[in-house]
Amino acid sequence: MESKYFGRLFWTMKNDYNRNIVTLDQPGKQTGNCAKKASKKTERSEKALSTQQKDKCQKVMEEVVVLIVGAGPAGLATAACVSQFSIPYVIVERENCSASLWRNRTYDRLKLHLAREFCELPHMPYPADTPTYIPKNTFIKYVDDYIECFAIHPRYLTVVESSTYDFNGKYWSIMAHDMAKCKIVNYRAKFLVVASGENSVENIPVIPGLENFPGVAIHSSCYKSGIDYSGRNVLVIGSGNSGMEIAYDLASHGANTSIIIRSPIHVMTKELIRLGMTLVHYLPLKMIDGLLLMMANAVFGDLSRHGITRPEKGPFVLKSETGRSAVIDVGTIGLIKKDKIKVHGRITKIKGKTIEFEGGKEASFDAIVFATGYKSTTNSWLKNDEDMLNSDGVPKKEFPNHWKGANGLYSAGLGRRGLAGIAMDAKNIANDIKRSIDSMCS
Ligand SMILES: Cc1cc2nc3c(=O)[nH]c(=O)nc-3n(C[C@H](O)[C@H](O)[C@H](O)COP(=O)(O)OP(=O)(O)OC[C@H]3O[C@@H](n4cnc5c(N)ncnc54)[C@H](O)[C@@H]3O)c2cc1C
Ligand SMILES: NC(=O)c1ccc[n+]([C@@H]2O[C@H](COP(=O)([O-])OP(=O)(O)OC[C@H]3O[C@@H](n4cnc5c(N)ncnc54)[C@H](OP(=O)(O)O)[C@@H]3O)[C@@H](O)[C@H]2O)c1
Repeated sequence: MESKYFGRLFWTMKNDYNRNIVTLDQPGKQTGNCAKKASKKTERSEKALSTQQKDKCQKVMEEVVVLIVGAGPAGLATAACVSQFSIPYVIVERENCSASLWRNRTYDRLKLHLAREFCELPHMPYPADTPTYIPKNTFIKYVDDYIECFAIHPRYLTVVESSTYDFNGKYWSIMAHDMAKCKIVNYRAKFLVVASGENSVENIPVIPGLENFPGVAIHSSCYKSGIDYSGRNVLVIGSGNSGMEIAYDLASHGANTSIIIRSPIHVMTKELIRLGMTLVHYLPLKMIDGLLLMMANAVFGDLSRHGITRPEKGPFVLKSETGRSAVIDVGTIGLIKKDKIKVHGRITKIKGKTIEFEGGKEASFDAIVFATGYKSTTNSWLKNDEDMLNSDGVPKKEFPNHWKGANGLYSAGLGRRGLAGIAMDAKNIANDIKRSIDSMCS
């Protein structure tokens, strides 16, 4: 595609790219509020508060063809795909690095639960010697290689604070704060790609008495390893993949570990999920579920006496209808069966170190890990997205039509389908932008 076509759209100052790169070692590194008490006020918001002097910042306007918000896997994949069509874009990232979730907010023992064939970003296969289940640092290396391969230059420490569609001018008006340069940039973009993630901010529930809990209370995004908890009484709240794996890690490091499992969950092995994902191309989801449940029951047996029951819908139907993932067992179930990890129901209240559970049981804890998931934050900055996202900031339309809104608005990575879904979204978005540009230019 010839560059003259873009003259009719918007051009961007490409020379600015490199000056915005900040490395991990520079100030502003996001390590989360790991050693502090859990609080909804994260380091990021503290940084935002400390920049109330924003009024003193320089204000500039910049026209771009495509603006991508977020340099996680979804934003990077979209950047790579649009660059394949030589479509100019700018990608902004609030943190000082790409894939910040993976670098700064994941625990040490994390490996991808899905086999590598389901975790590839577009246009770049994994090296042949990559293990089937990729350790987090290998995935981060892949992301770094991806950025280099597609010459992606995110503008780091640049947080998008508001975005509205200008119906007269027919462009997206996006206000971003470049924290490194104290600059407020008003981008005008023909196309806006929301790639800010389903896991944008930590979800910490309100629990009566938490404010007076004298021990350490952290979110799973701050948890690194059980090494510091040996011999301590630790409660993990939440039984998604993070909670179940963190409970295993704590118990393996000698912590007296308990976990709250408040809802039915599907427990599977990674091999069973791999089999199911392979069969998706050949069999209906209900049939796959029947098969997997039979095999999972043979592996784990009836877990109801340990406080674990299965949802009514099978794991693949549930994932496709609600986005809820099955829990992939990393050894937690074995420790629950041996009573090395205790299972509790919901918390009713916290009184000092004592935590009271439904049914009146009580126990004393030194630390709490909130593995209670995350939320999208798009609703705090994105307006005129009514066709695309609901009030929780996730797509309204069902898969596979969830990625496209109106007026050149797209979402990448919000379809609750992990890295495999991200690759599909990125390709769809780039193809659609290319079609729109071609039709504008013809
Ligand atoms: C512990 C853990 C393990 C996981 N393991 C797997 C796995 O094995 N396989 C799998 O498929 N999925 C896994 N996931 C899900 C995972 O989140 C995604 O697959 C992947 O990281 C999503 O990429 P993303 O780019 O959509 O979002 P993110 O990785 O969250 O990236 C979004 C980026 O947008 C930035 N951002 C947000 N708001 C703004 C703003 N206003 N302005 C500028 N930038 C902004 C954020 O800083 C972030 O860097 C895991 C999630 C967690 C929490
Ligand atoms: N290795 C891997 O691949 C890996 C590892 C970790 C995470 N992940 C992925 O990362 C994403 C996030 O996972 P996650 O485990 O952090 O979050 P999650 O899947 O959203 O799970 C959150 C858990 O917290 C529970 N919860 C929420 N509020 C609660 C409350 N007030 N009291 C008690 N429990 C509460 C939820 O229970 P309810 O269901 O009852 O709401 C759920 O069990 C998922 O997509 C997951 O698959 C992948």
